[in-house]
Amino acid sequence: MPLNQPEQKKEDIGLEKALRPLDWEHYIGQEPIKKGLEILMQAAKERNEALEHILLYGPAGLGKTTLAHLIAKEMGSAIRITSGPAIERVGDLASLLTNLTSGNILFIDEVHRLNKTIEEVLYPAMESRSLDIIIGKGPGARSIQLELPSFTLIAATTRIALLSSPLRSRFSGGVLRLDYYTVPEIEKILSRSAHILGITIRPKALSIIAERSRFTPRIANRLLKRARDWAQVHKVSGIDEDVVLKTLDLLGIDQKGLEEADRKVLDVLMTKFKGGPVGLGTLAAATSEDIQTIEEVYEPYLLRLGFIERTPRGRVATAHAWQHLGKSPPQSPLL
Ligand code: ADE
Repeated sequence: MPLNQPEQKKEDIGLEKALRPLDWEHYIGQEPIKKGLEILMQAAKERNEALEHILLYGPAGLGKTTLAHLIAKEMGSAIRITSGPAIERVGDLASLLTNLTSGNILFIDEVHRLNKTIEEVLYPAMESRSLDIIIGKGPGARSIQLELPSFTLIAATTRIALLSSPLRSRFSGGVLRLDYYTVPEIEKILSRSAHILGITIRPKALSIIAERSRFTPRIANRLLKRARDWAQVHKVSGIDEDVVLKTLDLLGIDQKGLEEADRKVLDVLMTKFKGGPVGLGTLAAATSEDIQTIEEVYEPYLLRLGFIERTPRGRVATAHAWQHLGKSPPQSPLL
């Protein structure tokens, strides 16, 4: 399974939890978000009110869940965690909401996957702490209204564009976009992770992992773990440049952090469509990937690298991308 896929192995989830920063001091980067939250949290605390609802968005693995935990800790609130796909029926949401107590935080991950009916129950719950549900079906159905405790919804999504604007507008505390990390920030995160895991790693080896981590802490930490595995199996003590390069080679990760599957997207775009423009659906079909995976997993990082561009007529490979794959672009106008 590629390292950048949303699905994760159990051991990796355990690892992620162990490495999750437990205080703000260890939460590296995302400075504008931290500054905004600091004010929001302090003001709510001073007024003795629940924090307003917050929406976190951005590519996978940048620390949205971690941030929700830190906010809960700072507010001294219990946090209940769920996700869009786990809330299948209105009753599931009703049960979650009615079990909250005052000041609790409800964290809904992948909120873009909530269905419409459930979203509509969420609106009054967010706005006026009112749970409006219909009991029964047909002529005997009746509507009941329950008052909810003051709670905070923290929702997270990788796909902000899929959220309806009525839902987006109800996040009165703010809609916060997490950005990719810088290489020095990832180095700091890796350094802390290595310390926690008891790994000895040379600075150069750490830098190489950081450079190829797609600016994403979750990926950086997994690469670190794979390098530790490699060193252990080959009975090498400590991780140096050689161990890291061999690990990355084994995983098919290139100098820009691209995996085989990313390169395939670029390769298909170049060889089958002369570098584009090509529509997302066509590109997905030609690469045997689904549209969602291309949009959520491959595309954000390829855009960030400047390897593809989105145009009104579809995706286009840039000159950087042609160069990276060692291919010659056609003579027609290039980006
Ligand atoms: N893990 C995920 N996000 C992180 C961050 N911002 N700092 C440290 N570790 C992290």
